Order: sequence, then structure tokens, then C-alpha cells
Amino acid sequence: MRHFLTLKDFSKEEILEIIALAKDIKQETKKREYKPYLKNKVLGMIFEKSSTRTRVSFEVGIYQLGGTALFLSTDDIQLGRGEPLRDTARVLSRMVDIVMIRTYEQERLEEFAKYSSIPLISGLSDKYHPMQLLADYMTICEYGYDDNLSVAYVGDGNNMAHSWLMLAAKIGFELRIATPKGYETDKKVLSDALEFAKISGAKIVVSHNPAEAVKDAKVVTTDTWVSMGQESEKVKRQNDFRGFMVDKNMMDYAKKDAMFLHCLPAYRGFEVSDEVFEEHSKEIFDEAENRLHAQKAVMVWLDKHR
Ligand code: CP
Ligand code: NVA
Repeated sequence: MRHFLTLKDFSKEEILEIIALAKDIKQETKKREYKPYLKNKVLGMIFEKSSTRTRVSFEVGIYQLGGTALFLSTDDIQLGRGEPLRDTARVLSRMVDIVMIRTYEQERLEEFAKYSSIPLISGLSDKYHPMQLLADYMTICEYGYDDNLSVAYVGDGNNMAHSWLMLAAKIGFELRIATPKGYETDKKVLSDALEFAKISGAKIVVSHNPAEAVKDAKVVTTDTWVSMGQESEKVKRQNDFRGFMVDKNMMDYAKKDAMFLHCLPAYRGFEVSDEVFEEHSKEIFDEAENRLHAQKAVMVWLDKHR
């Protein structure tokens, strides 16, 4: 049985296989062909943080696959009152077929997985957001930008930056990350990515220079400066990230027809200007839609590998 907790656990071939499945499922969905790949299966969704896209796409996704979802907010279940995660894992394993968790520490996902006899999917942790990256790469492929790909990530060295590192390292493309000083990516995640890069041929560069990172990039991306759980650092972060907004000037360094991606939610006037956001809204909302298709593919894939 496999879990989906980080792209680190997946080979390039497996990532591409899931994306190919997502493309097929998307085509079927567009024709309103809802094949019941997961008939009568129940997905438990534990949210310890807020969500729009992840919640809606998982819930709609399992429904379209013939199953159903349970939304389990920690405000409502005993986990929020101190019931151990390992006990929650063992109870859910006996009642539902697949679980998705959005949480803080990656270790919480690992602990749940250790005690779970059903597949677990990460819906984001402080360390990684692997589902988002499947949707992002699927979008890049749909636009035909996967050949000779170079991606610039400008902003916080956070869960999104870490997931980009893992994706680039596994697939083997060029990734340049620029963060402000003090907001670099995790050293261990970077060193793991550099190890995988030796095999895949990925070219990974980290710096504090956004213009240099964006130069000639085919895809430019960013994320919020204030992730969930960091609200008390908001003012400091907004000051420290000055000069890292992706605006028209910054996009001018990229290739002429470069894509701009954003996992959303976006904070215009901070990590991205309204002008850049609106100019690239087609690809941004294609990216958001692809969460639905990519997640359906992951659920089907995990079910097949039980
Ligand atoms: N991108 C993303 O995961 O969005 P939500 O926080 O709305 O789920
Ligand atoms: N880095 C952001 C991503 C939101 C989808 C956060 O963790 O809040």
C-alpha cells in the first residue's frame, strides 16, 4: 500500500503515470463521463487548517468517482480535544477507505500513516504541498511548456518552494528559487533535492536575487508571504519581502511568452501585482481546476496500488 505524503517518495515514472491518468480523467469529466472508479468508497478529510480548493476538489472528486467524502474539521472531531492521532488513524482505518489530512508538521502525516491501514494523502503540511505540484506540472504540460522547462520561484522558502524542489529534482528540469535572506528553503529538503537532481539532471539554483532567478524562465511562480500559521509574523514578513513582488517589471526578465502560476489564494499587491495576476488568470485558474483532476487521479492510483 502507498501513501501520498511527498513527491520525495515517488519516481519520475510514477509522477508522469499519475499525470497521464489525470489527463484521461479530465477528458472524461469534460465529456461528463463520470466513471465510478471508486464506487461506494469513502474519503475522510481531516482539516486542521482552512481550505477552499483542496476541500472542494477532494469532495467533488470522490463524488464524481462514485464515492463520498466526510469533512472532518478538528474543531468538531475528538482529535481537536486531544485524542491521539494514532488512535484516530486506527479508527478511521476501520471505517473509511482513504484519508486526506491538511495539517502543520509533516511528522503528523508520517505518524498517521504509520498507524493507518488505508492510504493517506497530504492536503498540505508546513513542509510540503505535493497535490498542488501535480496540478501545477499537469498545467505546464497542457500548455506544452514541459520541454526544456525552466521555472523561477520567487518568494518564501516554504511548503510550495519545497514541493517545487522535489518536483524539479524528480522530473529533471531547471528551477531557480529566489528568497529574501532569512527565508531560505529548508537545508535538508534542498540537499535531498540536490541528490535526486544528480540522477534526473535537474539544475537547481537558490539565491536572493529575483531578477537573476526569473531571467529567461518559461514559468514564473510565487506563493503567499504569510502562510497559514504565520499570521502573527505578517507585518514583519511584508517588510522583509519588499522587492519580491512578481510585477510587470519582474515578468519582463522572463521569456516573452512565460506562464505565471500561483497555487492560490493570492494576495495582490504583495507577492503578485494585480496586473500580472489578471494577465495570467487563464493559466492560474486552469491550474486551480487541475487540482480536481490530479486529485481524482491520485485517489484512483492509490486504490489500484493497495
Ligand atoms: N492551493 C490550495 O491548496 O488552496 P486551498 O488552501 O484553498 O486549499
Ligand atoms: N504556503 C501556503 C500555501 C497555501 C495553499 C500556506 O501554507 O498557507
